Amino acid sequence: MATLQPFSLIFLSALLLLLLLPLLSAHATNSPNSDDKIASPFDFLKGLQGSQKGNKTKGIRDLKKYLEQFGYLSYNHSNEDYFDDVLESAVKTYQLNYHLNATGTLDDKTVSTMMMPRCGVPDIINGSNWMHLGKKWHQEGHGSFHTVSHYSFFPKRQKWPPSKYHLTYGFTTSTPTKARNAVVQALRTWSSRTHFTFGPEPRSGSNPDILVGFYRWDHGDGNSFDGPGGILAHAFAPQDGRFHYDSDDRWSVGAVKDAFDMQTIALHELGHNLGLEHSSIREAVMYPYFPPGTTKLRLHPDDIKGIRVLYNM
Ligand SMILES: *[C@@H]1O[C@H](CO)[C@@H](O)[C@H](O)[C@H]1NC(C)=O
Ligand SMILES: *[C@@H]1O[C@H](CO)[C@@H](O)[C@H](O)[C@H]1NC(C)=O
Ligand SMILES: *[C@@H]1O[C@H](CO)[C@@H](O)[C@H](O)[C@H]1NC(C)=O
Ligand SMILES: *[C@@H]1O[C@H](CO)[C@@H](O)[C@H](O)[C@H]1NC(C)=O
Ligand SMILES: [Zn+2]
Ligand SMILES: [Zn+2]
Repeated sequence: MATLQPFSLIFLSALLLLLLLPLLSAHATNSPNSDDKIASPFDFLKGLQGSQKGNKTKGIRDLKKYLEQFGYLSYNHSNEDYFDDVLESAVKTYQLNYHLNATGTLDDKTVSTMMMPRCGVPDIINGSNWMHLGKKWHQEGHGSFHTVSHYSFFPKRQKWPPSKYHLTYGFTTSTPTKARNAVVQALRTWSSRTHFTFGPEPRSGSNPDILVGFYRWDHGDGNSFDGPGGILAHAFAPQDGRFHYDSDDRWSVGAVKDAFDMQTIALHELGHNLGLEHSSIREAVMYPYFPPGTTKLRLHPDDIKGIRVLYNM
């Protein structure tokens, strides 16, 4: 290319800028909400803030579906937008699980908890596990209480037998390398605090004990994903080692604004694969909600206690 005189360079740059300016500003005005949260299937909850028994607000039917999905309601009654007794008691159970005031009313704290992106595994399975009960509650003056542990297990305490304390893992072919690395890191964290060891499945063509992949919407295991936001991932109880990420969510390595750290989610979902259900301790890995842009890379004493009780370690 011929050399350009400084003058023509400046001229060209100015010309380019003039041409691009309208485009840039048009883009800016077209996306004034670039800082807004990504639309989520849980957004309907915002419109229900303040709802309580007796209300007939549009969206209450979706609240019933939400609570059904996570195990608080067996959805074999009213399909109406009507806040009935059964719904009120489901909301109270939810509030107990998340250490909210058990008023049965959708107060702002209840709504903001429910709206956070989360794991798709229900908090309650067949009414047999209760995140907030089970363990020791300590009375500490003035009626306030402090809980020692909140871990929970699957029904019948599903777990791996002693012959399966070494588990193999594998990935579906479409799993990105960054996700594989994140899962391997999370497996290391679990093996450092338990008797489990993990290694890649050596026999090609055979099924690993833990199989990780990315899926979207209905992917044939009876637990549909839901597009961006809402449910992020799910995993199965022993001895079913499937662990699925929702590929419609925005994934990251480390804390990235509006994205979810793959290792953080792996640590949680692998906890399910090992036999842990949800914990009501916000700092625990087994707490089911995940604010975007955050990481949780270490096991909490509650997670460690849970897995040790399950396997009598
Ligand atoms: C919900 O019920 C309460 C108490 O009955 C009432 O004060 C409130 O106006 C109702 N809200 C709606 C949106 O119906
Ligand atoms: C609800 O449950 C009852 C009894 O368990 C059953 O007979 C009925 O068919 C169920 N209804 C629906 C809509 O599933
Ligand atoms: C519970 O209610 C009390 C009194 O109204 C309030 O001070 C407190 O912040 C509430 N706690 C939660 C978690 O909503
Ligand atoms: C829940 O209960 C039903 C009916 O008793 C049973 O078929 C199902 O396997 C149970 N689910 C789990 C996860 O235990
Ligand atoms: Zn979970
Ligand atoms: Zn799945």
